[in-house]
Amino acid sequence: MELDVADLAFGGRALARVDGYVVFIDGALPGDRVAARIFRRKAHYAEARAERIVEPSTSRVPAVCSHAGLCGGCRFQDLEYAVQLRHKERQVAECLQHLGGIATAIRPILAAPTQFDYRNKMEYSFGRDREGQLTLGLHRRGFFDRPFDLDRCHIAGDVSSDLVACVRDLARAEGMTAYDTRRHEGLLRYLVVRRGRRTNQVMVNLVASEEHEAFARWATVIRERFPAVRSVLLNTTRRRAQVALGDEERVLAGTDRIEEILGGLTFEISSSSFFQTNTEQGETLLRTAIDGLALAGGECVLDLYSGTGTFTLPIARRARDVIGIESNEAAVRDAERNAARNEIGNARFMAGDAMELLRDRFGLGTRDATRPFERPEIDAVLVDPPRAGLHPGVVSRLIHLGAPRLVYVSCNPATLGRDLALLCEERYRPEWVQPVDMFPHTPHIECVAMLSRRT
Ligand SMILES: C[S@@+](CC[C@H](N)C(=O)[O-])C[C@H]1O[C@@H](n2cnc3c(N)ncnc32)[C@H](O)[C@@H]1O
Repeated sequence: MELDVADLAFGGRALARVDGYVVFIDGALPGDRVAARIFRRKAHYAEARAERIVEPSTSRVPAVCSHAGLCGGCRFQDLEYAVQLRHKERQVAECLQHLGGIATAIRPILAAPTQFDYRNKMEYSFGRDREGQLTLGLHRRGFFDRPFDLDRCHIAGDVSSDLVACVRDLARAEGMTAYDTRRHEGLLRYLVVRRGRRTNQVMVNLVASEEHEAFARWATVIRERFPAVRSVLLNTTRRRAQVALGDEERVLAGTDRIEEILGGLTFEISSSSFFQTNTEQGETLLRTAIDGLALAGGECVLDLYSGTGTFTLPIARRARDVIGIESNEAAVRDAERNAARNEIGNARFMAGDAMELLRDRFGLGTRDATRPFERPEIDAVLVDPPRAGLHPGVVSRLIHLGAPRLVYVSCNPATLGRDLALLCEERYRPEWVQPVDMFPHTPHIECVAMLSRRT
């Protein structure tokens, strides 16, 4: 049927309405008139695929990337950047209103200064094409196990793309197999490339099912061809889980970490540690979060989900004390090293689950009166959880803690809406929400929300 695309739904799919009935369409953009085929019909919506563009949207622009349309990463390269931003802004407002009942001041989204070559990390997957040849690249849109051979990724940049070509050639020359999730066999799983954008230090992390004698030779070739590579790692895992993490890590060449500079501080990052993927916009996020905390210098701040200390350490420079809580032990070690390296002595880190540490170290949400808790007076809290947002147990403990200011950095407006609703039900008032575009051409949206205590 022919459909007029009215909107972009949260998550990035085009949306049309037929007599109030919603149709989600793959392969279309707002403003397009498309001929689409419906492949799934439900009571309240249908899903369709655009087969032909009858009349293109006036917001369409030529995509820079030759893989646009095929790649599951960039969904909007052919949509004018200003229009991408407008849709993201509206999606934040809708998520907060519909999921959280929050009608607060939503500031205009902060655009990314560069819309290409902005990622400092990219995960590539190994696979097999129809002829059985090994492939290395990014996932096809809509498939989790069919990576296509990548030529150039314009958001990850040239070095990253050249490393993909180099490793693919090495693997093919060796006749190696890609790991097959369904059969649980094959050797090569992922290639993760990280590049400090301010330091130009590159980490190459190969994730495989097991060791192979060729890997050490590869490391030498890679270091010869790419002088910026400081670290070549092998991570091995026999797990079925589709995550680019190993159970065991071995340094094939160089060191086990690289450095990046963010907010004027130097951060050492190891392979399993989270680090803001867009360094420049990571700084925008940091500035906004610091603005929300409004520190005068004498405060004690709690930073939940602190990673390698990206927020914790700049906060330490502006506060009396800061405590970071983080479950990934490698990230905590990085954070401690980063504090020492930047000569910051007033940041402490605790390794463990946020909810358990709030209970066991701060005495929040426990009736155990036999244990003494030395809970410091917390003046402000910053949280930066993964996409799933805050566990309800963390929300209730934060309400119990009742710090005067709470800044929530979020990479998922849906869970942000849900969590703000809980936090604001009894204790907090939302002051403002600042959307930040960290990932141009993709559906991802980051936000910083500032809450102040009501009672
Ligand atoms: C979005 S990242 C933010 C990291 C850091 N704030 C930064 O900007 O680099 C979320 C972090 O939460 C950590 N994490 C995930 N689940 C956790 C939990 N239950 N308790 C504590 N930390 C957790 C992850 O390891 C990750 O480092």
